[in-house]
Amino acid sequence: MPETTELTPPFEKTYYYDGRKDRLMVTAMHNDSIHALKDFEVRDDDVYIVTYPKAGTTFILEIVDAIMHRGNIDEIKGKRMEDKLNLIELGPAPGIEIATYKKVSTWKSPRQIQTHLPVDLMPPQVFTKKPRIILVTRNPRDCCISLHAWHATVKFLEPCDWDYLVDRFVEGQVIWGCWFEHLADWINKMGGKDNFLHLKYEDIKEDRQGASETVANFLGYDLNPDEMKRVVDHTDFNNMKEYMKTVTQRDVFLRENRHWQRKGIVGDWKSNFTVAQDEKFKEWEQRKCKEYGIDFMQYYTKTPKK
Ligand code: A3P
Repeated sequence: MPETTELTPPFEKTYYYDGRKDRLMVTAMHNDSIHALKDFEVRDDDVYIVTYPKAGTTFILEIVDAIMHRGNIDEIKGKRMEDKLNLIELGPAPGIEIATYKKVSTWKSPRQIQTHLPVDLMPPQVFTKKPRIILVTRNPRDCCISLHAWHATVKFLEPCDWDYLVDRFVEGQVIWGCWFEHLADWINKMGGKDNFLHLKYEDIKEDRQGASETVANFLGYDLNPDEMKRVVDHTDFNNMKEYMKTVTQRDVFLRENRHWQRKGIVGDWKSNFTVAQDEKFKEWEQRKCKEYGIDFMQYYTKTPKK
């Protein structure tokens, strides 16, 4: 069973996976499911969406889902929340009858699956077969502020104090661990491979059409202009907020009157961070860039237009 012994509010609904403090998971992401992934059957035509929490998982998944349905939004409406959110590490949990890894094993191809997992907990076949993998990254500061709101939004976490969360974030003591480590491991493992696409939330936000075309191209879908327009319209922030209300069983995850779509902007952190918190993040960022020898900032600064 998950270890919860050392965890205190607002983290009592989490556990340290394999007892490791850098592996903090929410209990809905079941220990047994993660263990079972080592035998998970990957398919060459699977699509894996990889994100650190709050980097825009639902945003990219709707782009991908809409593309895979050639812009027929009616076909992807009215899904149950647990069928929309296919985090491979999810369930079973209250309200979620069946673990994702079991559920998707009965699905027809091509499957679209998401995960926040670090590389070493992924099904090994993800790296021996050739599924398509899309990694979306977002400024850790915006992930942090979004995660703070998330604690008050979902039932599997508890609201918490902002200053407290910032400190925990910098220590890598938040759900799914350290932002930098997650990115470094994925980039080191997959960077440069032809079945791997990296996108930034910041770029998708600025040019949804361009990002959607890149994704369609990567996945091998040749959409006509009408189909592509429907993908782009569907994934507009306000449209998605309305659309997500058509997803049934939202209350398994969400507290009353709370939404996945909160603000959906780049740089929200600027109006929330104190000068001291900004300094703390900068110091952390510089330390991690040195430690890993990676210029992490390139993964969340907008790509200049050609
Ligand atoms: P904010 O909390 O900053 O608003 P995830 O899906 O990984 O949990 O990420 C959630 C973040 O993505 C939230 O950020 C949410 O508002 C944002 N998001 C979701 N859909 C979006 C969209 N269509 N356009 C822009 N941002 C979106």
